[in-house]
Amino acid sequence: MSLNCRFAVVSDLHIALPHTVWDAPSRFHLVEVSIPAFEQILAALVKQEIDFLLLPGDLVQHGERENHEWLVKTLSRLPFPTYVVPGNHDIIHRDGCDRTVSLAEFTQLYQPFGYTNPEQPYYHQEILDGLHLVALNSNGFEADGTPFHHGYLDQAQLDWLDDRLAALADQLVLVMLHHNALEHLPGQARSRMGQRYMVKNAAALTQRLQAANVSLMFTGHLHVQDIAQSGGLYEITTGSLVSYPHPYRLLTLSTDAGQPQLQVASSRVEAVPDWPTLQATSRDWMGDRSFPFMMKLLTGPPLHLDPAEAELYAPKLRHFWSAIAAGDALFEFEEFPEPLQQYFRRFSAIDTEGKPRLIDNQAQLLLG
Ligand SMILES: [Fe+2]
Ligand SMILES: [Fe+2]
Repeated sequence: MSLNCRFAVVSDLHIALPHTVWDAPSRFHLVEVSIPAFEQILAALVKQEIDFLLLPGDLVQHGERENHEWLVKTLSRLPFPTYVVPGNHDIIHRDGCDRTVSLAEFTQLYQPFGYTNPEQPYYHQEILDGLHLVALNSNGFEADGTPFHHGYLDQAQLDWLDDRLAALADQLVLVMLHHNALEHLPGQARSRMGQRYMVKNAAALTQRLQAANVSLMFTGHLHVQDIAQSGGLYEITTGSLVSYPHPYRLLTLSTDAGQPQLQVASSRVEAVPDWPTLQATSRDWMGDRSFPFMMKLLTGPPLHLDPAEAELYAPKLRHFWSAIAAGDALFEFEEFPEPLQQYFRRFSAIDTEGKPRLIDNQAQLLLG
């Protein structure tokens, strides 16, 4: 059977109705643009006549019921189906509160967007003839309902996944979850700053997917455009709607030539009405707020610079994180001492031999 479909991914929408926007000067995310930017993308996707839309979590700013309700209403008007998973910002406490939703309320609300069985926070749907979506919940909670600081897949979910993967042998399967399962930054799984973006027991997932010949995972959370690969398994993480470079992806999956292929194209929201120079303004916004983060990176392992020395380099790295977020970055800080140059070079979009491999935004991936 041959398949030829087009779909889109928009991640980390962090939807915030204007009166819910947090007033914090160091806030990293431009949630002010969430609604106009999302509406602009939806209008483009309706024109493109896509087959379906994936939203890999952090749907709202911070768990607010009214922001979730706005999104549910907006998605229900679309001419194509949408599938969601929860991010850490969607359920900030398992049991919710008067303003924020619980895990159980989340699956109820998003029943038309994947959770046909709202008793379970993960699901499987045959989204097109011969194409399946396995959508996971990577939010874990302590016994008292407070969230973990990292992603996690509990045993019940892994057992369910085993059962699903066995039933779907030889079918085309897409997997979606919020937290990362493969590294998108060098040493991410070992660094304290990087770990919180990953599923703590990621190997339990990736080993199962590799054994079942699943090739495609879609994630968010890191707010970075990156495609990582381990053997035949790709993890396509999509940057956030509300931070530079305000990207979304259009994907074409086809089995026409026998071997399944995925063509990845990425676009950006260039401007919205109140933000006519969104790309430049947003890059500066990120640069203006990146100093404490760069200091942490320079003074932490493995560099361990003393703060006075780190202060010399941090301003020169003002646009380092925006370049990472945009994907396909190639770093060369020639004015830095050699060990520092070497350290930052590792963040470049390079293959295992150190050659540029620019697949984060536009790519043709052979699957299986
Ligand atoms: Fe996010
Ligand atoms: Fe997140």
